Amino acid sequence: MIRVKIPATSANLGPGFDCLGLALQLYNTITVETDRPFQISLTGSYSDGIPADESNLVWRTMCHFWDLIHYPIPTVALTFENLIPPARGLGSSSAAIVGGLVAANTLAGSPYTKYELLQIANSLEGHPDNVTPALYGGITLSIPTEGGVLPRILAQSPKLRAVVIIPDLLLKTEKARGILPSQVSRRDAVFNIAHAGLLIEAFIRAEYSFLKEGMRDVLHQNQRAVLIPGLLETIEAAVQAGAYGAALSGSGPTLLALTEPEFEQNIALSMLDVFKRHDVHAQSYALAIDSEGAQII
Ligand code: HSE
Repeated sequence: MIRVKIPATSANLGPGFDCLGLALQLYNTITVETDRPFQISLTGSYSDGIPADESNLVWRTMCHFWDLIHYPIPTVALTFENLIPPARGLGSSSAAIVGGLVAANTLAGSPYTKYELLQIANSLEGHPDNVTPALYGGITLSIPTEGGVLPRILAQSPKLRAVVIIPDLLLKTEKARGILPSQVSRRDAVFNIAHAGLLIEAFIRAEYSFLKEGMRDVLHQNQRAVLIPGLLETIEAAVQAGAYGAALSGSGPTLLALTEPEFEQNIALSMLDVFKRHDVHAQSYALAIDSEGAQII
């Protein structure tokens, strides 16, 4: 039997569209029992709507990996404990893909390195900003190169707390990407390049006072505000309540604020208050950054 624990992730962090991300101490767990009739059992708070048959994303990813390495598909029973809310911008599909790859690789005797698994995960997910932190932990930068995605860990165990506000709205990444223009102006590109640079400096030097400016973005958050009532106000409320900075988590609808522990309660209340005024029900978590990435436990 093997068990894999995979962290939730938050991508973009403001200006780092499709390249910056971090791992959070909120996990899905996959248990694989070998030589058992095929079965998928779902537990955990977020199992509704997740298929328990061969169309399941974790299972499809495992079979894809075994096909790739010409490994005979074993008969296994799978149990998933899902604590990462799906379709909320917290990397639930990346967790499924990364968890499936790590489990399938382990069962096959670990022929692939983490770097090689990242390349497969990126090809399946389509963008690397969640899969890199899900595999490596910490705060990561994913660089598209001719040879594949180059992962860089900017900070492995930053002493930052993440307040995540999860609205009761489902938003598929494809929809949230579909509303973005395919071209951006040079001015906006320069804005995001400069801000992503500042954000990377803030993480590497642990100069968190730079996060307020560093987490600003013009490429996707304003555009996505039409899908998430109160989005920009919530970011402002988080900063007013003491957050270093705040941003949309991935393609949303979850919001992420980075802070010191003493402000986390105030920040959560202020952000929830904005959503309440917009008639959006939401829940909050205060989480530490995960420094391990996906682990066999
Ligand atoms: N970076 C993606 C987006 C989401 O904002 O559409 C996470 O991969």
